Parts: sequence; C-alpha cells; structure tokens
Amino acid sequence: MENRVYNFAAGPSMLADEVLLAIKEELFNYHGSGMSVMEMSHRSKGYLEIFEKTKNGLKKLMNIPDDYEILFMHGGATGMFASIPLNLTKGKTADYIITGNFSKKAADEAKKYGDVHIAYDGKENNYTHIPDENELSFSADPAYIHLCANNTIYGTEWKSFPVNHKTTLIADMSSDILSKPVNVSDFGLIYAGAQKNMGIAGIAVAIIRKELIEEADVKVPSIMNYALELKHDSMLNTPATYPIYVLGKVVDWLEELGGLAEIEKRNIEKAKILYDYLDASKFYKSFAEKESRSLMNVTFSCGDPDLDAAFAAKAAENGLCNLKGHRLVGGLRASIYNAMPKAGVEKLIEFMDDFAREN
Ligand SMILES: Cc1ncc(COP(=O)(O)O)c(C=O)c1O
Repeated sequence: MENRVYNFAAGPSMLADEVLLAIKEELFNYHGSGMSVMEMSHRSKGYLEIFEKTKNGLKKLMNIPDDYEILFMHGGATGMFASIPLNLTKGKTADYIITGNFSKKAADEAKKYGDVHIAYDGKENNYTHIPDENELSFSADPAYIHLCANNTIYGTEWKSFPVNHKTTLIADMSSDILSKPVNVSDFGLIYAGAQKNMGIAGIAVAIIRKELIEEADVKVPSIMNYALELKHDSMLNTPATYPIYVLGKVVDWLEELGGLAEIEKRNIEKAKILYDYLDASKFYKSFAEKESRSLMNVTFSCGDPDLDAAFAAKAAENGLCNLKGHRLVGGLRASIYNAMPKAGVEKLIEFMDDFAREN
C-alpha cells in the first residue's frame, strides 16, 4: 500500500493491508444494504450474520471445544481484571503470577474483591524472566490461577504453561492471542483486549469453559456478569459492533493465510531474525532473558537514553514508527504482531545497522 509506514506500536497496532482492504470494500455499502456496518442495528439480520460468522470463525481458527463459550465483553482487558474475581472467586482465594505490570494490575484489581495469593513475583529480576514451574508456590485450594501469557511492556512470554495444579488456569492473552495455536482446554478462561492481534480497540474477547459460568450473582454488575452476558449472547446492551466485525475480518485473513500454525511459523521467523541481529550486535542490548523472550514484543536499547530517543525519532523519519519503549522499561520496543510483515522487520534491522554504524 502506498504511503503506509511500518507501525511497531504495542497496541492499538498495525492491521494487515488485506484486512483494511476488505473493510474498505464494504465501508459505504455492506453487502447491498446501502449502509456501513457502523450504522447497522445490532439486532438486524445483517449484523447478526456478521456476529455469528465472527464467533464461528474464531471458534474454528482457535479450535475452541464445544464446552467453551465466546463472550464479547466491554471495558477491554482491564474490565476483565475486575470481572474475573467478581464472577469466579466465589469466596475462595485467587492465585496470581506476576510477570509484569499487567499481571500486577490484574492482581491489584482482584484484591479489591477478595483474597489474593501471589504465587510468584518477578519484580526482583525486573520482569526479565518467566518462571519455571518450580518457582511457583500456589495456595492450598485457589479458585483459579491467573497469569499473563505475553508481557507486552517487558517483552517476555510463557513458552509453556503450568501443569502442576488442580485448579482453573486463566490467561490474559491480550498481546499474543492468535499468534500461535494454543490448547484451549488447558485453560478455564482465555481473554484478550482486541486491539493487537484481534483487530481494533473496543472489546475484550473471553473464551470461557461453560461450567465456570453459573447462575448470575446479583451483586456482580450486569455488564460484567458472565452468566447474564451468556444468556444474552453478549448483547445484554449494545455490543461494540464494529470491533466485532473487524475481528471477523482478521479471522478471515488468518484462515486464508493457513491458520495459526502458519502464522506461528511466520512469527518465529520474524522474531528470530531480529533477536539474532540483537545477539550478534555489540551496540544494542536486548532486555529480556533469552529463554523468556516474546515473539510479539522485542525490547532492546542502545544503552543510553539520549541515543534511544534519537533512534526512535530517526526511525520514524524512515517510516518505522512507534519504536519508543514503554516508560516503565525505557529503551526501545518493536511490537511485531501478526500484521507486521517480515519486510518490516528486515527494514528495521537495516536501519538498526546504519544507526549503530553512525553512532
Ligand atoms: C497483556 C495486556 N493485558 C492487558 C492490557 C490492558 O488492555 P486494555 O487496554 O484493553 O484494558 C494490555 C494493554 O496493552 C496488555 O498488553
């Protein structure tokens, strides 16, 4: 596409050209309706078809078993930080594994509503590390164990998930969902804010084992109540119609590419060339521990805040945008979600090489 930059933002983030083109095609007149999807009633036949198609497409793409439900929730992933303890602790302790700021935020939110046990906190090693199973200490009988699968800010990612437990595993997959196949049955609940690999901001997608959703507890706010949302098929009130439509387009695009195994292959390849370059470089320093590195968010620095700032500014002039690291980590961060093509990473490496030589 003409005049498009490579957008390395952590989220909202880059969308594939194919997705934007499919949306553009239908923008003014969706399938002969004479209106855009943005203008359609969520109760209309046309929109309900989009809604069902998105849900069924996601179910197929992620191979979601029949005993799971897909809910489109409001309030983003942060809304889920509250609705999870409200719906699922049922008076028990909830265990949280803290590997970065979003898992800490999730735990802090849960503390407002009940007992929280911290099974691990990576603060000491500055969240550069994903723990092994033997570094985790769970409470006696937790309602669930919560973890964040990919730490967007620190650039670390779980390569395999804890298995030595007898309870429900809940994962915030906001920044790595749809980047690779996952075995949904290993989790009671997987959730994600959509604005990275699932399209645009405005929904949190929750994939939840049906048996966890019991009778609606009247004290849980209706908009966060999983049983009520299920009863109303995520239409207790007006759902975020457009983000759900865009998710459907992202799902179509990934199916056409060859599904999650194919995108994983591409993601591994993209991340490998960047990490290999960083490892070979004497100029750049990689932030995360090697074994814990994320395929989605690559954190690094030039070793000097002024140089990092100059790097981000000059990169932007060259069409490589949003490379400044998060303020908690500093340095630089290249978010290379599904929609970032390999050519974008290659161009980044070329730029890094030039910048290192000049400085
Ligand atoms: C891993 C993770 N969890 C949660 C959030 C918060 O998401 P939201 O802005 O949808 O509440 C983010 C946002 O970047 C994230 O990366």
